[in-house]
Amino acid sequence: MTNATPLALIQAARDATGFAHAPYSGFGVGAALLLADGQIITGSNLENASYGMTLCAEAAALAAANNIGKLAEVREIAVVGGRISAGIARGTAPVRPCGRCRQMLKEASDLAGHDIVVHCAAPEGGATERYTLSTLLPYGFGPADLARD
Ligand code: THU
Repeated sequence: MTNATPLALIQAARDATGFAHAPYSGFGVGAALLLADGQIITGSNLENASYGMTLCAEAAALAAANNIGKLAEVREIAVVGGRISAGIARGTAPVRPCGRCRQMLKEASDLAGHDIVVHCAAPEGGATERYTLSTLLPYGFGPADLARD
């Protein structure tokens, strides 16, 4: 069962911003996945001198879950991001997953067979937003579409 509180998940995402490699945008993002067994898996954005190769924090976290065979066990995600100042992500405005990350979350959600809860937060407090993936990505394309006649 899931046993991490949203606050613990958000804190894990805040901590993950500290590992962001974001020298080009100056915007650090951390993501934390809550798995069905209560495990938390984190990721941070990974930029590259070839700018278009950037990996988002959510994508990095989802890949890490998949690396241990647990993509279908993702239940919730927390996302935190903000401009980096003096080496630390700052700000009080919640960050919501980009479109590509919403699509990547849909794959995990459909594999799991239920909606994923998405917590959006800021590095330094402020309001936290709680969504379900289906509200962030309505009428999405997923694995079932490939199986249709
Ligand atoms: N970024 C993420 O990591 N996740 C998102 O959902 C939105 C954007 C990163 C990509 C890039 O390194 C930086 O934020 C600025 O776009």
